[in-house]
Amino acid sequence: MNKINLPQAARLTSPNPVTVVCTMKPDGSTNLATVSWWTYLSFNPNMIAYAMAKTSYSGEMVRDTQKVILTIPGVEIADAVMGCGSTTGRDTDKVEKFDIELAEIEGSSIKIPVHSRVAIQCSLKEFREVGDHYLYICNVEQVYGNEAEEALFAWNGYSQLRSAR
Ligand SMILES: Cc1cc2nc3c(=O)[nH]c(=O)nc-3n(C[C@H](O)[C@H](O)[C@H](O)COP(=O)(O)O)c2cc1C
Repeated sequence: MNKINLPQAARLTSPNPVTVVCTMKPDGSTNLATVSWWTYLSFNPNMIAYAMAKTSYSGEMVRDTQKVILTIPGVEIADAVMGCGSTTGRDTDKVEKFDIELAEIEGSSIKIPVHSRVAIQCSLKEFREVGDHYLYICNVEQVYGNEAEEALFAWNGYSQLRSAR
């Protein structure tokens, strides 16, 4: 074994998971941000967590509204998902810019990309400071799935998005 750093480890663990974190902006529209650092936490009760840079607009939104939906995006929107990971909702309407078709979720004002394999509707339980990120620990309220959509994964660290095959 050779000594390596964590970003190098992330390249060796590719393909890594990819989610799109969907939050509600103050005007009621949906913001989308690409996040790889998420995990299931508990099945009883159902809980998940994800980490986002302290500066992220999505973080501000979830801390404000306490609501978030994590989706596993389908391969058809790979380019748009990369776009959502390189722009901020602070100054960009990503849905319009990347022409992302949205669907409604029952009981939620946050919308999700139509091309999603899984959607996990959550309320924020708490968040913790972890270095330069916040870890958002969430209670799962509802889960949706669509086997017809093939999941996107991040390759070569986080530089390419495509299926795991
Ligand atoms: C493949 C990929 C994975 C990413 N994973 C994360 C992540 O796990 N955590 C994070 O804070 N940012 C991650 N990013 C970067 C955010 O998506 C990026 O900072 C985005 O601009 C945040 O948008 P927002 O300011 O609208 O929240 C990732 C970007 C890409 C392209």
